[in-house]
Amino acid sequence: MHYWLVMPAAGSGSRFGAGLPKQYTPLAGRTVLEWALRPFVADARCRQLIVALAADDRDWVEVARRLAPGGNVRISTVTGGAERSHSVRNALAALSGQADADDWVLVHDAARPCLGSEDLERLLTRGAAHPVGALLAVPAADTLKRAHSDRSGAPVVESTVERAGLWRALTPQMFRYGALCAALDAALASKRSPTDEAQALEWAGKSALLVEGAATNFKITTPADLALAAVVLEGRLAHREQAPDA
Ligand code: CTP
Ligand code: MG
Repeated sequence: MHYWLVMPAAGSGSRFGAGLPKQYTPLAGRTVLEWALRPFVADARCRQLIVALAADDRDWVEVARRLAPGGNVRISTVTGGAERSHSVRNALAALSGQADADDWVLVHDAARPCLGSEDLERLLTRGAAHPVGALLAVPAADTLKRAHSDRSGAPVVESTVERAGLWRALTPQMFRYGALCAALDAALASKRSPTDEAQALEWAGKSALLVEGAATNFKITTPADLALAAVVLEGRLAHREQAPDA
């Protein structure tokens, strides 16, 4: 089995609110983006990695130099777009002429530095056996509230949302190259921007398989998430030092 990797990394991180886009923030000795790329750089089944960058990106050069001091031919970049879905579409366009319609493409957020190898394996195995494809997801565990604002603007409970059957969608998400391009083209042509690939497939009438993954594969959104990611990654490094063969 082989696959292609697309990584949207063209966001500005407005909710993170630092001077630097969150994907370039230092984390456990590397940057968030380097941690996000790492499982795929290390995987021989991954033919090529396409990273979508902001038009005004100034930080990739340094990351690329660290990832592959001699220049890594497996990683290339494209300019992203206004929304995540545009960035993904631009990266997919770079695979035209290389990827076959039936090839698997994995899309993984640059802002998810804690993907574990077991989750990647489970996604690849279960997804490759499914006719549409698959995504990592976590079943909702907390009681869910729908809110509205009171007169002072404070959020107050409007209702409790039935939790059964609700999942939080993570990445990677894996789909066939041809089907994913077609689904995104159809969505963008009708001026709809899906927030993940599974939603584009859903609009095309195709239901992806939900593969349960670890909640530690969360997306860095605010600075508090960064501290949590450091704990996860440093914990894994310490575990490896104690058991190098693990
Ligand atoms: N992304 C992208 N192109 C965009 C917007 C987002 O490639 N136009 C990427 C981000 O870099 C990130 C992933 O999509 O890796 C998930 O997006 P999100 O967490 O929303 O990141 P940002 O858009 O950067 O953050 P914010 O919404 O807080 O501005
Ligand atoms: Mg965003």
